[in-house]
Amino acid sequence: MHRTRNVKRLARLGHVALLCGCLLVSTMTTTDAEDRSAAADIEQRVDELLARMTLAEKVGQMNQVHAGDMDPLEELGDALRAGRIGSVINQVDVATVNELQRIAVEESRLGIPLLVGRDVIHGFKTVMPIPLGQAATWNPDIVRRGARIAALEAAKSGVNWTFAPMIDITRDPRWGRIAESPGEDPYLASRLAGAAVEGFQGDDLTAPGAILACAKHFAGYGEVESGRDYATTNIPENELRNVHLRPFRAAVDAGVATLMASFSDLNGVPATGNEFLMRQVLRDEWGFDGFVVSDWNSIHQLAVHGLTANDRDSALVAATAGVDMDMAGSVYVEELDELVDDGALDIDVIDTAVANILRVKFEMGLFDDPYTDPDALPAFGSAEALATAKVAALQSVVMLKNDNDVLPLSKDGLDRIAVIGPLADAPYEQLGTWIFDGDPELSVTALQGIRDLVGDDAKIEYVRAMETSRSKSTAPFDEATAAARRSDVVVLVLGEEAILSGEAHSRADINLPGAQAELVRRVREVGKPVIAVIMAGRPLTLTNIVDNVDAILYAWHPGTMGGPAIADLLFGVESPSGKLPATFPRMVGQVPIYYSQKNTGKPPSPDKIVHIDDIEAHAPQTSLGMTAFHLDAGYTPLFPFGFGLSYADFRYDNIRVSDDEVALGGTLTISAELKNRGDVAAEEVVQLYVRDLVGNVTRPVRELKGFRRLRVEPDETVTVSFKLHTDDLAFFGRNNELMAEPGDFHAWIGGSSDTDLQTAFRVAASD
Ligand code: BGC
Repeated sequence: MHRTRNVKRLARLGHVALLCGCLLVSTMTTTDAEDRSAAADIEQRVDELLARMTLAEKVGQMNQVHAGDMDPLEELGDALRAGRIGSVINQVDVATVNELQRIAVEESRLGIPLLVGRDVIHGFKTVMPIPLGQAATWNPDIVRRGARIAALEAAKSGVNWTFAPMIDITRDPRWGRIAESPGEDPYLASRLAGAAVEGFQGDDLTAPGAILACAKHFAGYGEVESGRDYATTNIPENELRNVHLRPFRAAVDAGVATLMASFSDLNGVPATGNEFLMRQVLRDEWGFDGFVVSDWNSIHQLAVHGLTANDRDSALVAATAGVDMDMAGSVYVEELDELVDDGALDIDVIDTAVANILRVKFEMGLFDDPYTDPDALPAFGSAEALATAKVAALQSVVMLKNDNDVLPLSKDGLDRIAVIGPLADAPYEQLGTWIFDGDPELSVTALQGIRDLVGDDAKIEYVRAMETSRSKSTAPFDEATAAARRSDVVVLVLGEEAILSGEAHSRADINLPGAQAELVRRVREVGKPVIAVIMAGRPLTLTNIVDNVDAILYAWHPGTMGGPAIADLLFGVESPSGKLPATFPRMVGQVPIYYSQKNTGKPPSPDKIVHIDDIEAHAPQTSLGMTAFHLDAGYTPLFPFGFGLSYADFRYDNIRVSDDEVALGGTLTISAELKNRGDVAAEEVVQLYVRDLVGNVTRPVRELKGFRRLRVEPDETVTVSFKLHTDDLAFFGRNNELMAEPGDFHAWIGGSSDTDLQTAFRVAASD
């Protein structure tokens, strides 16, 4: 019986202490008696095994090797037999994986099984929307179900460890890895992080189909300067704790087994060598008892960063800082033995790291059953997998514009539909970044989805118009406009190919690439209604097309079942219900732009801004408003965080707070009425925002504190209530301690971060 990492079995004990009239909030976790005895059993087995290991075997456990692009049995057999490998990465042939396990278990001295790692980021064969798209569902349940499907399919190939969820908060759509991230908000990211961990790891790590999750990249990677991948990050500790660390804390609370150290430099100490992150925060404060893996060769890169002089120093720094396993670097396996023999590195550091790794292997039940029986797991692309991918895609699409209710389309009223664009029929591109194993053969494209839905009711005319999303040639545009002219409506499927986002794929210009804006303009001139469906790995700047289309469905990279989902949304089988997990700037120069900004000492307002075109000649310096805005972009985004339209007509009203005043330690309820005044049933994501007016450190102008996705029938009015404990208002103050303060708060409920339905309450000091 092994201890599970199931959060439901962890009892959280709130621990509060009074200091300086404020509540300092800390939490600790405990397990129930059954879990404690299972954990003690595992600790005993870890200790016994550790006591029998040589230094070489210990260091071997800390070594993960690349097992793809080679004959791994040939190349790795000897090292496995010698106990010099603890994990392999990138081998997904199940027979090979089983054979590697057999060598490790039967032919090495101590028979320690392997962890088999793979990036299963948003699906294995069946691909869910990119993580940013999944975040747009604001639905932890669909994220959990998607991760579960991914785990089942990956496990069928022998994989027992994924490098997901990626939970880097980012406010920079230039960064290619925003596609993999949950977006800009720590609360939304935390809720989704926990759900993803639960989906991958399940209730019981020993069950077939459960795989280890890995929360990455610890920490701060989403702040890379100018959105350039791998660049430096400088994040004050207070911001780090209030924003970037929060999803990681949520993942740890959800029982995540592993974390990955980030590639990036954090405040002068690259994360892979950062003791503050991995010892102080992760182990001492959070009590994490899984293990930390480096990123790909990132221990070696400590010297490239200039933190260390060579691999020997890098191994010493990373191990001391708390990186337990070296991913694909061979630095540990080449340097650690000697560092210990020389007395430069204490054996306790090695023992702790190895115990962390062995503990997880025991928790997984690998010592009892290291092999994979693929037949015991569902087929790839099962009906359940495809159905889940479709729901995820449906809920991820955000309707950004719908002038004159041009959508939904009606099959009956249309004779001809022009489907135009480089992503309309692109089975591979719609899967997005990080799909090593994704199967484009399973993809149903937007064109196919529309054809399937419309059947013989209307003629579909398809023109690709651009070879790739980056093509600059306008030669095929005549064919596109001719098709548009013959049609009743044009569906333009635009965006970015998969390669334009993801790791190392950052962009400085985030407009639609190539000649797409020109294509939109040319099609617009025809005069038919134009619907843009945009597939992309990031928020794009849409300013140059937004006025030339009647409607926009922002579909991210929607995955395997993107096509049927898009067709259902276009034709109103379902209403769009996605909400933006990241702010859409008007211009790239506004970045970083995000809803939870600080107020500043000179906040802008509509009456205090001047547009560059309206400045009079020789206007005095002080005549331009003197507030925090851009002369050419103002201060508002094109579309705010949380925004997304619906075919229903949702109205929010009657916001109420249960008590005007609550004492620290108490709970209040904030509610509002949501009425569907339209004539279709639809899902809506109701959002609660709070502002702490005065803080020990300045607080954001709004912070998401709750959300709920619910279905509302026509004419139905529902009252949506959120319970708010004063601990939910806690933040890290200027001494970087978690605190909840007395004071005045504003609260808003609505369908977007810019809702103006507001109430107020006061938090009083506790007696
Ligand atoms: C990425 C990680 C990934 C790893 C293994 C690295 O380049 O930063 O996110 O898990 O490769 O493929």
